Amino acid sequence: MKFLVLETKEEVAVKAADIVSEVIKNNPKAVLGLATGSSPLGLYAELVKRYKAGELDFSGITSVNLDEYVGLSEDHDQSYRYFMNTNLLDLVNINKENTHVPHGNTDNPEEEARKYNELLESLPPQDIQVLGIGINGHIGFNEPSDNLVVPTHAENLTENTINANARFFEKVQDVPTKAITMGVGNIMRAKKIILIATGENKREAMRRLRDEYVSANNPSSVLKLHDDTIILMDRAAYGE
Ligand code: GLP
Repeated sequence: MKFLVLETKEEVAVKAADIVSEVIKNNPKAVLGLATGSSPLGLYAELVKRYKAGELDFSGITSVNLDEYVGLSEDHDQSYRYFMNTNLLDLVNINKENTHVPHGNTDNPEEEARKYNELLESLPPQDIQVLGIGINGHIGFNEPSDNLVVPTHAENLTENTINANARFFEKVQDVPTKAITMGVGNIMRAKKIILIATGENKREAMRRLRDEYVSANNPSSVLKLHDDTIILMDRAAYGE
């Protein structure tokens, strides 16, 4: 795991886009592992800009997303499918049939998780996996706990995460309490991983990622065991 500290979140977005663009250029049929949240927004804007400038071709690309809330329909403006469509997938020439986000609008999230895990295993490993990080160290929706789950699974969200994500909903009671998420095994299968962390509120998560041992209480710490992971952060997240 390597840390790369850049001055601003704009520089982080450009650097992340450089890394993802290289993956796409090296393999026009690449599988991209994608994340939602504010962290990768600059990256997606930069990729769209490069696509519009004729520098990138997504026609052969497959995408797999990390996670989805349980109980939101795909057209709900806070669903991760909606986020991906509006911030990237509808804005480039990717074949939408090759874009995958777990189906959260279901009465049986465990079954959907199992199907998503099967789908991931039927595809080649992600050429690159993009990650953000929760302030409690979660990746995807793998929350701190006594155990880490390897395959895709349904996870109950912690109070900390529900409160952190409440900013996107009218009231905290509207935040789903469950999600379907890639497990750490699905994430670690990626050939390359970039984790984006910007802003002061990620400082403690970055400090813990640097200083702590690998532990299920800090799911991001498993990335220490992956040999091609770059933690891309701005000065505010680094804190010095
Ligand atoms: C959510 C997502 C994570 C994301 C995290 C951080 O909980 N499930 O994948 O990394 O939030 O979000 P943000 O980038 O908005 O800080």
